Amino acid sequence: MFITLEGVDGAGKSSHLDWLADWFRVRGRSVRMTREPGGTPVGEKLREIVLHDPMHLETEALVMFAARREHLAQVIRPALAAGEVVISDRFTDASFAYQCGGRGLDPARLEVLEQWVHGDLQPDLTLLFDVPTEIAAARLANARAPDRFERERADFHARVRHAYLHRAERFPERIRVLDGSRTLDEVREQLAAILGART
Ligand code: TMP
Repeated sequence: MFITLEGVDGAGKSSHLDWLADWFRVRGRSVRMTREPGGTPVGEKLREIVLHDPMHLETEALVMFAARREHLAQVIRPALAAGEVVISDRFTDASFAYQCGGRGLDPARLEVLEQWVHGDLQPDLTLLFDVPTEIAAARLANARAPDRFERERADFHARVRHAYLHRAERFPERIRVLDGSRTLDEVREQLAAILGART
């Protein structure tokens, strides 16, 4: 089973990673936790570059997919083949939300890359943590030094959020939306209900 977590920066998804992994482990499943951009030695180097060095918008999209290509080859496909549950903190929906929604790249360009890199493989379940952009911004204000995406203005984050919600409408079977503005316990209840229905 391939599960991805998505949401605007500050949506709170990372607070639930360990809980999610435990949910599967107590049910006897072996879990592989990973993230994008990153997840491999090459991918983590690309992450450093793409999060911090200014670049053309198409370069940014290509770097995301280069890291993803490596991630699929080294981590995701082997783990799925071994029967593990793979939980990735972000995947291709993030490219559609950030590079297309946020930055304005034509989605047709990304669809070509998506087809090339993982045309035959989609997540089984995507958990989209949705929060109003003001709440996300307030959470980020207390965070560590912001990266290139976190430093973007409020309208960028609003477009990213909108693009995510649009994807959720387009793929309702795969993408489940959670209200990330609730307390940790309330979000966990939502998660448990979704997972219970799926597994
Ligand atoms: P993180 O803060 O959740 O680790 O994600 C790093 C940043 O990278 C986040 O701001 C979203 C951005 N991102 C993209 O713009 N496109 C992508 O395809 C991915 C995977 C992440």
